Amino acid sequence: MNFKKRMNLFMGMWLLTGAVFAQNVCLSTPNTLMVLAAPEGGKLEYVYYGNKLSETNLQNLETVQTKHEAYPEYGMNCPTETALAVKHADGNMTLQLEVMKVTTTEEADAVKAVITLKDKVYPFFVNVCYKAWQDADIIETWTEISHQEKKPVVLNQFASAYLPIRRGDVWLSHLYGTWANEGRLSQEPLTPGMKIIKNKDGVRNSHTAHAEVMFSLDGRPQENAGNVIGAALCYSGNYKLRIETHDDEYHHFFAGINEENSTYSLKKDEVFRTPELALTYSREGLSGSSRNFHRWARLHKLAHGTTLRKILLNSWEGVYFDINQEGMDQMMADIASMGGELFVMDDGWFGDKYPRKTDNSSLGDWVVDQNKLPNGIEGLLSDAKKHGIKFGIWIEPEMANTTSELYERHPEWVIKAPERDLVLGRGGTQVVLDLANPAVQDFIFDIVDKLMTSYPEIDYIKWDANMSIMNHGSQYLTSDNQSHLYIEFHRGFEKVCQRIRAKYPDLTIQACASGGGRANYGLLPYFDEFWVSDNTDALQRVYMQWGTSYFFPAVAMASHISAAPNHQTFRTIPLKYRIDVAMSGRLGMEIQPKNMTDGEKALCKNAIAEYKTIRPIVQQGDIYRLLSPYDKQGAASLMYVAPEKDKAVFYWWKTEHFCNQHLPRIKMAGLCPNKQYKVHELNRIDNRPLNFENKSFSGAYLMANGLEIPYNHQVDYHKQNDYSSRVLYLEEVK
Ligand code: DGJ
Repeated sequence: MNFKKRMNLFMGMWLLTGAVFAQNVCLSTPNTLMVLAAPEGGKLEYVYYGNKLSETNLQNLETVQTKHEAYPEYGMNCPTETALAVKHADGNMTLQLEVMKVTTTEEADAVKAVITLKDKVYPFFVNVCYKAWQDADIIETWTEISHQEKKPVVLNQFASAYLPIRRGDVWLSHLYGTWANEGRLSQEPLTPGMKIIKNKDGVRNSHTAHAEVMFSLDGRPQENAGNVIGAALCYSGNYKLRIETHDDEYHHFFAGINEENSTYSLKKDEVFRTPELALTYSREGLSGSSRNFHRWARLHKLAHGTTLRKILLNSWEGVYFDINQEGMDQMMADIASMGGELFVMDDGWFGDKYPRKTDNSSLGDWVVDQNKLPNGIEGLLSDAKKHGIKFGIWIEPEMANTTSELYERHPEWVIKAPERDLVLGRGGTQVVLDLANPAVQDFIFDIVDKLMTSYPEIDYIKWDANMSIMNHGSQYLTSDNQSHLYIEFHRGFEKVCQRIRAKYPDLTIQACASGGGRANYGLLPYFDEFWVSDNTDALQRVYMQWGTSYFFPAVAMASHISAAPNHQTFRTIPLKYRIDVAMSGRLGMEIQPKNMTDGEKALCKNAIAEYKTIRPIVQQGDIYRLLSPYDKQGAASLMYVAPEKDKAVFYWWKTEHFCNQHLPRIKMAGLCPNKQYKVHELNRIDNRPLNFENKSFSGAYLMANGLEIPYNHQVDYHKQNDYSSRVLYLEEVK
């Protein structure tokens, strides 16, 4: 056991002098500390969450900190906001939880503390669990609720966690949006009253609001300064975040499953595990908090988080449903010739009795449409091999259309309320399969299993989900358990994901849900990345990717070069700008290459080659956001710095275009002040190199002054346009 872990275990058992039987639970990560008071027979209370403290400060902490119950329960102090509310088997609506025991254990890279609470009278138990990562500044917390009462206990409220946040000028940063406009950033001061951020989609949970937030504790949010608490609920389903501010010195933050229409009847000895809430604390502003989330994600919460992603072409915006053998072969040849590594065939390849021509049929019938693809998937795989690239395929496993053989065979598998008509989604015929039903879970697992056993060379799956749960009704759950629908759907979904990952650990899987509907840490342990948005317009992507980067690392953010005019906004943006934006995430293409000119292909080929150089920095480096597009200063800028600080990539995109506009000069961040960095422009289109091309500057200079970025590109007159952007590669000169 290494020293750090020994210390943490010791701290976990630390007994505070003075208080008989009092024991404190201290959980630390490399830079943060959480302290809870857990006296046997008393209340579990938060004492401190923040930066690491010295021994002396730690000794005096309990006398100076205001304590708050760590998992407030309903019933004996009704007016306060609570985390847990139940109805016991005998109808009693109250809880009185006391600490029974504390268990601290060491896990790989983490220390776990479980504080078991028991009701004073009833055989009702709550394990409040904390997992402090030793290689990332994240503490995860969740609960395990159980009882031994004679009849089921009804759970009316079951948050994952509560955290008190000291009032002051606290600002909330959170994401909102809608289809084609996901990941928008909202920043607002917390004011008295209740702020609720929630989701009720049933299937996807990040099109609109997100289950992740940041609290800037010292006034207006800053990217690279100030104390910030970040919180991310790791759940794929309906969630609710509550921040209550009323008559005391604290904001009261609760996060968990959205209990609306989800009352849960808990059987004797059954354990109800709430999803983890991941907490982080940073003294380096919002970007610092993002870096903590990103590191933890790459190491622990994202499938293959430390593996570099392939550069791909996805067929959707290139051909939509018009899939055929020759077309796929041509797209594969094109992406291979530009240096890409993977081709993904999107929607439209399947259906026998009902071939998928548009979005109104065939979901559920996962067999190749022989008319479109006479050589089947074998043919596509051999084409991919011929071009020296990998092959991936699109599926939407949780769904069916009423026009499908699946629905004809299994109408009882779809979500539907008794005595009611079906509520139909996309294409006027789409329905959601009832993942509460184990037979449906098997069916969904088999979709992937059949594809992968028949075609083990499939390298990548794009897993889509294009419908919400529109009507409340499980044909599988009993009538008295209908309120379990949302929870059981996501339990079923997770079970399927676990089975897939157990059998196919190396497969790359993208979470797509009508774009960015599934960016959450509930499912990312099983998925390698997510589609940020169906909107591929580069200008709008600057805003969406900015917001999304608050919580998710670039390695997980699929970001594609698409056509102009853009298919969603109809905006015409020059290719250089489209490339420069796409290159700040997991680079891919979403375009018909045969419609591109040779010049455009050459530009993309060059960009792909350059991206390969910077890929480790973008996908594994530390983000420093520099100038927010939301600040409306006419430009946006961010950079990624390699962990060794010997390399960095700087991005700058103009976001407004006016003559004689005065843009700010951007100071860099995250570099080593004493190192010298040589600057080289990537994706250059200008006739002349920039003034600072190949020149060296110290990190200190770049962070104090930045570089003067020209507002326009020096190109021939007929090539001039209203957009400009720059990507600079910085490499240490030794
Ligand atoms: C929605 C996705 O977001 C798109 O990328 C595409 O895969 C379509 N579905 C296909 O129907």
